[in-house]
Amino acid sequence: NKKGFIFDLDGVIVDTAKYHYLAWRDLASELGFEFTIEQNEMFKGVSRKRCMEILLDIGGITATKNQFDTWMVEKNVDYLKYIDKMDASEILPDVGRVLDFLKKRNIPIALGSASKNAQPILEKVGLLSYFDTIVDGNNVTKAKPDPEVFLLAAKQLGVKADDCVVFEDAVAGIEAANKANMVSIGIGDKNILSEAQYNFKDFTEMDDAFLNGLLAGN
Ligand code: G6P
Ligand code: MG
Repeated sequence: NKKGFIFDLDGVIVDTAKYHYLAWRDLASELGFEFTIEQNEMFKGVSRKRCMEILLDIGGITATKNQFDTWMVEKNVDYLKYIDKMDASEILPDVGRVLDFLKKRNIPIALGSASKNAQPILEKVGLLSYFDTIVDGNNVTKAKPDPEVFLLAAKQLGVKADDCVVFEDAVAGIEAANKANMVSIGIGDKNILSEAQYNFKDFTEMDDAFLNGLLAGN
């Protein structure tokens, strides 16, 4: 069967998870409380709106609809300042090698991200042309751990869900991939991503033999 590969963006292709963290931390500090790097784990793969809700929970703050929207915009403006300076040097190690490996073999590649900033980030780092389709926060209604984002990506690639492989750094993303019946590959801390079918610290640990195995798989 034809295989398809789906990449999450933040924390898999580029280390924007740190910029998201900084922007949320800036907002928390403005609102008078601390937001820790450990708490940031819950924000990975989670929509901007949901992150805002969790942040207010952490701070014990009740916001009016107006404040809520204003703060969410503020966070994004702050985030965009961080990503504005991004270039190819911020592509995570060996992402290019894995993308080239797939491209050379004509394997369909999709982006499956919750971010509404996905396309400009891929453009900035020069990877946009690798992707046959982009499914992001602008195309889906149900956020990870709902499998919608990955199922839509598979559909747009013309590949059956069972034949898709997902690279994810978020607990919610691994859960979404598993729900979609896809091969879930955790990129990051294997203690955090314990529900993943395979775990890698990063792409430098993933060799051609493993990738060939995925292509041959069932
Ligand atoms: C990714 C990140 C999340 C982020 C979400 C929305 O999934 O892992 O931390 O909240 O995208 O991103 P956005 O760029 O639309 O605010
Ligand atoms: Mg991610």
